[in-house]
Amino acid sequence: MARILVVDDHKTTADSIAQIGQRLGHEVSVFYDGTEALAAVEQQPYDVVVTDLRLPGASGMDILSRGMTIHPEGVVMVITAYGSIEKAVEAMRKGAFDFISKPFTIDEIKVKLEKALGQASVQQEMVRMRASLAALHDDETRRYNFNEIVGKSAAMQKVFDTIRKVAASDASVLILGESGTGKELVARAIHYNSQRTDGPFIRAHCAAYAEGVLESELFGHEKGSFTGAVARKIGRFEQAHGGTLFLDEIGDISHNVQVKLLRFLQEKEFERVGGTQTISVDVRILSATNQDLKELIGKRTFREDLYYRLNVISLFLPPLRERSDDIAMLVEHFLRQYAGREPVKKLDPEAMILLTKYHWPGNIRELQNVIERATVLAQGDRITVDHLPQDITGAIATAPRLTGPINFDAEIEKYEKELIQGALIESDYVKARAATLLGIDRNRLRYKMEKYGIEDLAPTK
Ligand SMILES: Nc1ncnc2c1ncn2[C@@H]1O[C@H](COP(=O)(O)OP(=O)(O)OP(=O)(O)O)[C@@H](O)[C@H]1O
Ligand SMILES: [Mg+2]
Repeated sequence: MARILVVDDHKTTADSIAQIGQRLGHEVSVFYDGTEALAAVEQQPYDVVVTDLRLPGASGMDILSRGMTIHPEGVVMVITAYGSIEKAVEAMRKGAFDFISKPFTIDEIKVKLEKALGQASVQQEMVRMRASLAALHDDETRRYNFNEIVGKSAAMQKVFDTIRKVAASDASVLILGESGTGKELVARAIHYNSQRTDGPFIRAHCAAYAEGVLESELFGHEKGSFTGAVARKIGRFEQAHGGTLFLDEIGDISHNVQVKLLRFLQEKEFERVGGTQTISVDVRILSATNQDLKELIGKRTFREDLYYRLNVISLFLPPLRERSDDIAMLVEHFLRQYAGREPVKKLDPEAMILLTKYHWPGNIRELQNVIERATVLAQGDRITVDHLPQDITGAIATAPRLTGPINFDAEIEKYEKELIQGALIESDYVKARAATLLGIDRNRLRYKMEKYGIEDLAPTK
């Protein structure tokens, strides 16, 4: 049921429109005076307002403009007497949805009311959608604001500083770091804290595509440019117009794509695969890799000139094992994240010690997975050592427990001797093979055997 307001100083007109509205099943308020109607509009929102233009008190134009300001998703229709069409046109120009000219038939009113109500509900839906989009965008922005990047270590403070500085500029940024150190998270933070925040953030995972496919993923292609190109494709560069393009795993791109990318960075333009039209877009480039690009340049698989273009600013994310100061904070962060609506679980001190000592080859992603798993496994509100994976508990268990002071050098020598004996036994005392097993050369092996007085049991030839 919708809310309709009808105002006309000609009582019969007002009443008959109102009656039609009621018969359609809506709630209708009727007024015969402009001032009263205006007061009602001020007081509560109407889906449809039907107003005469010439009224005692406030005019129909007043009601129209006031109604549209207070309740923009509502719809206003004006009633005009025969011969005053210019007035109706003016009202439409000011935002009225439609006009009813007198005299009218019941059917005409029915159709016009239905149309107006339909329009009102479309407008309301649009307002709702816009609101939820705005909320979503706020959410997204919040998610990638610095608060979501956890870290108090000096290394991370430096990272935050750099992010803040580069976010304000439009410079290309190369983000370096091992797998799982937060490269994508940082790329998003840069975008959502830059002036491009209302533009798109587009990610392209460069290692995920075969050579030729990546080129058309990034730059798009024209219909018929190769077998299978059944329609024109808009690439990531065009999608990112006005925003940021994040090229992930940049170390893996082919020579061909490197050349095209370099041209884009220099001239801001490119052509689609198989296309002749030059396209220019406004896109900021962020890129990331866990490879050593300098080494790739040395091997000539990565162009040096491209490296300098991508690397106007570089940002290095240190591996987690080098910032164990951050572990407790990250654990807290993920415990809260995985708790959802449940109360946040607590981690036993022993478990926390294990986590701080572990070497985290998979970095923060691995820590995140460990906490997610433990949250699921722990029935109660406490996470103990038992809820941690074997990788972590095992790695620590084989490490010697030091209950008192030791002689470090003597312990090392003891271990060295054991290793050498083990390798010799394994290789039937063939020293060349033992040396290979140990990864040292034969002279060094011979020297160590002498040093430790290890008997040479090689079968004499
Ligand atoms: N400092 C941090 N604070 C909180 N969460 C983090 C942090 N760094 C990384 N994460 C989380 O760890 C996970 C891995 O991060 P991300 O995907 O950004 O890493 P990456 O460096 O891109 O890894 P890969 O090289 O494997 O693609 C994500 O879920 C991310 O939200
Ligand atoms: Mg990544």
